[in-house]
Amino acid sequence: METIIDVNNLCKTFKIHKRGTGFKGAVKNIFHPTYEYKKAVNNVSFSIKEGEMVGFIGPNGAGKSTTVKMLSGILYPDSGDITVAGYVPHKQRKEYVADIGVVFGQKSQISWDLSPLDSYEVIKHIYKIPDKKYKENLERFTELLDMGKFINQPVRQLSLGQRMRADIAAALLHSPKIVFFDEPTIGIDVVGKDKIRKFIKMLNQTDNITMIFTTHDMQDIEKTCERLIIIDDGKKLYDGSLENVKKGYVSSRIIEAEFESLPITLDLPRTEISDVENNAMKKLISFNTDEVSVNELMTALMNTHNIKDVSIREPEIDAIIRDIYEGKIVMN
Ligand SMILES: Nc1ncnc2c1ncn2[C@@H]1O[C@H](COP(=O)(O)OP(=O)(O)OP(=O)(O)O)[C@@H](O)[C@H]1O
Ligand SMILES: [Mg+2]
Repeated sequence: METIIDVNNLCKTFKIHKRGTGFKGAVKNIFHPTYEYKKAVNNVSFSIKEGEMVGFIGPNGAGKSTTVKMLSGILYPDSGDITVAGYVPHKQRKEYVADIGVVFGQKSQISWDLSPLDSYEVIKHIYKIPDKKYKENLERFTELLDMGKFINQPVRQLSLGQRMRADIAAALLHSPKIVFFDEPTIGIDVVGKDKIRKFIKMLNQTDNITMIFTTHDMQDIEKTCERLIIIDDGKKLYDGSLENVKKGYVSSRIIEAEFESLPITLDLPRTEISDVENNAMKKLISFNTDEVSVNELMTALMNTHNIKDVSIREPEIDAIIRDIYEGKIVMN
């Protein structure tokens, strides 16, 4: 497979107007404006092969949307190089848009006053989509995204989940080779999320569309992506398989124990103990099987307390990712 997205030493700094507080500060600012600089994307490099589906994650303010905007040509980089499908996005935007689709979950791309179908007609015209292709795509997306019931209703009347599906179809009508999804599942319920994930995955597999998928929901990633890029504070923290992230944790375990009575006094060396929200009778005990055996821990628990219920499990991907964000684990 050939490389289709190539990013080298990408940087973007925002100049932020620093406002003074109160009246005096405001006046002072008019005459002596002060600025702060925020390195939103700091020397990021990666390359993506044709047909790959990459999860792009990181905490709030990490620089994900800024990167997606530069990739889609909306924003100029300060330095570094981007090539996507042979184009330099911010320089060849006009020709480039035919090859890409962009979905911003936070901001609708289709007209509020029109129905999705009316917007699609406009898009057909703008992108000069041939009749046959337009009809095929429209029928397919309407069915797969279950849009039949609302495709003729003004977008302003749609629920968030319906609007998002309408938006996703809009971004794909012209059969782009590459699609950037920036939080396409934000605010959507479980069923809606599932529809979107299945649709995205299906398109990646059957149409071989290259995709970058930004999200805060690790289930989105687990259900769709094999590869993960993690960024934080503008820098790339990890680039590799999702499997690999989990593998580093094969010997991590969590015991969830429910006790019969209070007080619960636990003296368990080489473990980390945390509370379960709204349940004083439950505790989570995290440990590593290389350091403590399950047997040893269970014996210690049973000898000191009356246990009502106990279960043991592997850490969920969410917990692992949280530890990476918090710097508790250093990847690579
Ligand atoms: N237009 C802008 N002007 C000034 N600062 C900006 C602008 N856009 C983004 N930033 C800043 O750049 C940093 C990265 O923002 P970005 O939107 O890329 O983060 P993100 O990873 O998408 O976060 P989130 O998960 O919250 O969407 C933040 O500190 C943000 O405040
Ligand atoms: Mg964002």
